Amino acid sequence: MSAPDDRNRAPNAPDAQQANVAALYQELILDHYRRPRNRGKLESPDVALRKKNPLCGDVIDLQVQFDGDTVRDVRFTGEGCAISQAAASMLTQRLKGKSSADAAQILDRFTRMVHGEEGAADESLGDLRALSGVSRLPVRHPCALLASDALAEALASRR
Ligand code: FES
Repeated sequence: MSAPDDRNRAPNAPDAQQANVAALYQELILDHYRRPRNRGKLESPDVALRKKNPLCGDVIDLQVQFDGDTVRDVRFTGEGCAISQAAASMLTQRLKGKSSADAAQILDRFTRMVHGEEGAADESLGDLRALSGVSRLPVRHPCALLASDALAEALASRR
């Protein structure tokens, strides 16, 4: 399902003092949405799966290739709002080259950040911290977590 314009607005920071951070975060989200990293398909993925956001019907198709215990490559396709697509782009970028254990930790921390857990948004999340504002928008949590849930399932399938 294609995304109407109003769904493609990035979340804002809570107050005026954080305007610069909010602007930077919004820029990052829109950059990943407009120029998604790791969008496409792999020749021979070890894991391929599809996840659906039950609230809107948008889907992500995820493919992962492992090198032993390391996330060697990861790609995604699918349609969705700016938040879901930016999250997929940022997450795939962040997890590439990580061990399964480190990747799982990042996914767990990202999920806790999206749910608003204080202190969850640390440096290990890198650009993903730009999505911290989603925590104030519960209806958008499934958007932010669509790729994360798919990646967690891909990692779990290797255990
Ligand atoms: Fe469908 Fe965000 S509105 S993934």
